[in-house]
Amino acid sequence: MIPSSGPAGASVPTESGLSLRESATLAHPTMSSRLSLLVDLASLLSREVELDALMSTACDRLRAALECERATIWLIDAEREDLVSRVAVLPEVPQLRLRLDRGIAGFVARTGDTVRTTDATSDPRFEADIDRQTGYVTRSVLAVPIRESASTPIRGVLQLLNHTHGAFSEEDARYLAVLAAQLCRALELTTLRARGEEPGVVLRGPFNRIVGRSDVLGTVYERITLAAQTDATVLLRGETGTGKGLFARAIHVNSKRQEGPFVTVDATTLPRDLVESELFGHERGSFTGADRRVQGRVELAQGGTLFLDEIGDLSFESQGKLLRLLQDRAFERVGGRATLQADVRVVCATHRDLERAVRDGTFRSDLYYRIRVVEIEVPRLKDRGAEDILELAMHFADMYARRYGRGAPSFTDEARSLLLSYAFPGNVRELEHWIESAVVLSKDGRLRPENFPKVRELDAPREEGSAVRIPLGLPLEEVERLYTAATLDESGGNQTIAAKRLGIGRNTLARRTKKP
Ligand SMILES: Nc1ncnc2c1ncn2[C@@H]1O[C@H](COP(=O)(O)OP(=O)(O)OP(=O)(O)O)[C@@H](O)[C@H]1O
Ligand SMILES: [Mg+2]
Repeated sequence: MIPSSGPAGASVPTESGLSLRESATLAHPTMSSRLSLLVDLASLLSREVELDALMSTACDRLRAALECERATIWLIDAEREDLVSRVAVLPEVPQLRLRLDRGIAGFVARTGDTVRTTDATSDPRFEADIDRQTGYVTRSVLAVPIRESASTPIRGVLQLLNHTHGAFSEEDARYLAVLAAQLCRALELTTLRARGEEPGVVLRGPFNRIVGRSDVLGTVYERITLAAQTDATVLLRGETGTGKGLFARAIHVNSKRQEGPFVTVDATTLPRDLVESELFGHERGSFTGADRRVQGRVELAQGGTLFLDEIGDLSFESQGKLLRLLQDRAFERVGGRATLQADVRVVCATHRDLERAVRDGTFRSDLYYRIRVVEIEVPRLKDRGAEDILELAMHFADMYARRYGRGAPSFTDEARSLLLSYAFPGNVRELEHWIESAVVLSKDGRLRPENFPKVRELDAPREEGSAVRIPLGLPLEEVERLYTAATLDESGGNQTIAAKRLGIGRNTLARRTKKP
């Protein structure tokens, strides 16, 4: 979450919070909140932000600073060519969509003109349907395009409704334009960035900072969204580097605990003899060196989410200590008598085969059932298909090019093929390292196979013995057929898996494997 700028907006002096004398000394009654909004946005930009959180915070603050009833951030969806409002953080608030040829927002998105009116209903561009559907009565409107400058592409529209004192001023419009430019720069740091110089942004997935739109990820997103609506314990499973940590955060950020803390406990780094005190804290004098009372992670996560990472690596003894917490949400500090109640949501993750661990007697079966309430399997990178792999590669390339001050990156065809043919046993994390390396080692922004790290022994080749010999000199169509058939064979005849690996549809696969 974004510290210091939650919807409560602790650092924003509200109008009612100012004494008469104080407000008299300000040149403009909203000047200080306007300045603090600019400063806050600037500081948010320097971090990796959760975009939805940033947007809803920005809307809340805008509403306060510009004294109006509603603030909406519309983005142009470059692929669907319509407007989408991404302010909804909570799953129960639906995403709003608006055609580009409709409404005042649509007009601003198309033309880049600012619209400022005191009576929207008499404006021919006004879309009365939305008001009719929602029962909302729009009076004054101020809408400006989201873009860095007049000569750069439009990414969306910032729209304010119903000034509390009747009309938006010209100064309001100028201020909003400055803010829109800042927001535009913020978008560039997120997964909702533009693609090249075309207008709008690309929605690379329903969660910010999580890239991927494959069907297999669709199931994951759906489960994450549903789980986030409840306090149920979640177990994220998947190979190393698949993004379990990222999804754990997504559950928290989209839950009603989003304003609370997100505390990670990594079982692999917990000192074995200090597990209990790390988790539950200790009282002063409870052991040598305990010279003051210390809160454990569970207490630090109060009101928020406790993420138990690599839970499969927890020692058998420590597992027992966790059980009570999961069962009754009750615990005691080391050396303490009082039983404390934990108001935490628990999310766990592991890459281990827990069933085997239970069979082997190294993982407690009672804990196993407790943590498996909602199980979410995060797929391997290579099972996500070509589109996701390339989209992720581009995402990391942009990210590292920006971080290292390199120009706009692009991949050669050979680099693309290599990315698609490699197995990536280290999944997304390994892909990320490949791309980081390539960005650093490329002289001109063109990412070539030789810029990728050397495949070392550690990296297994894509599936054992999965190479196929195709003689040179065949017509390309025949090569395609042989290669496709071999992939299908190697996927155990499963068309869905084979199609996914090849990055084509099942119908195309069927067509290609047919003998002429
Ligand atoms: N879908 C994704 N979109 C963008 N970045 C991703 C995605 N999945 C993973 N990453 C990035 O890949 C890296 C590895 O992800 P993460 O640490 O969440 O994996 P993990 O499953 O927790 O791995 P491990 O089991 O090794 O802890 C991180 O830098 C993360 O930001
Ligand atoms: Mg992890």
